[in-house]
Amino acid sequence: MRFSAISALSALASLTVAQDFEQYQAQFQNILGQFGSYLPNPNRHDPVSAAEAKAGEMKLNVLGLSNWKETLYAPVAPEATTPEEWLVLVTGGNKTCFGHCLRIEAAFNQSAAKLALLPDAPHVGYINCDDQPILCNSWSTGAGTLYLIEMLPEPAPIDIYAKRLNLSTTTPDTILDIYQTREDKSQFKKKDGYFHPFDGELAKYKLAVPLAYVLWALSVIPSWGMMLGVSFISRTMM
Ligand SMILES: *[C@@H]1O[C@H](CO)[C@@H](O)[C@H](O)[C@H]1NC(C)=O
Ligand SMILES: *[C@@H]1O[C@H](CO)[C@@H](O)[C@H](O)[C@H]1NC(C)=O
Ligand SMILES: *[C@@H]1O[C@H](CO)[C@@H](O)[C@H](O)[C@H]1NC(C)=O
Repeated sequence: MRFSAISALSALASLTVAQDFEQYQAQFQNILGQFGSYLPNPNRHDPVSAAEAKAGEMKLNVLGLSNWKETLYAPVAPEATTPEEWLVLVTGGNKTCFGHCLRIEAAFNQSAAKLALLPDAPHVGYINCDDQPILCNSWSTGAGTLYLIEMLPEPAPIDIYAKRLNLSTTTPDTILDIYQTREDKSQFKKKDGYFHPFDGELAKYKLAVPLAYVLWALSVIPSWGMMLGVSFISRTMM
């Protein structure tokens, strides 16, 4: 009785030490690894086509869980005081946008080539939530959103502005207009709170990604839970 109270207390004490989060995260990833063979791969990133997109006239950076942060910081000079601007489209395919995002995606891709010609050209990025469900969950974002991200060198806070795109009316000019009228911040929703990708509490304590995995795993349980069940039943019946 006494022993368990003491061990509970000490467990609680160690919970409050921030660096332990790293340990919990590692343990969590171990558990995930054990389930891994049953799960579809949640982070699809094709480095070859990403390199092609970046080198093409669109200068489009395809962002994934492993590269989004370094990619966004890449053009930021260490002593910069004016932000480097990024325009990032969050889109999706049949799974996360039910096939309705083709129009905004095509519009964005075409606008990327036009944006690249502007004297104050932004950097442009692209996230596909079908390929990157963990990244989308960890930002708490969904397909059909355009982000304006103002990058300053670490550890400055990062301003992020989001705008939902109209899936049926967006054209390349819509995207250009949004960028060229970006001083009018009233058209955007400023991102803040727990899920802010840089400054939110979840990102600070490195919990955004583990939580995103949990949310994602829950969303796919119906399919892999079924597979487990079927293989279990068929094995016990044979
Ligand atoms: C998306 O769904 C449409 C219609 O159901 C289908 O024709 C298309 O092949 C699907 N695309 C992908 C990438 O699965
Ligand atoms: C837009 O560009 C990305 C990156 O190159 C590509 O994966 C995607 O298929 C393109 N979408 C459309 C609708 O052209
Ligand atoms: C998109 O634009 C159309 C035409 O202007 C409008 O009818 C529709 O309500 C808009 N959709 C959204 C989600 O705003």
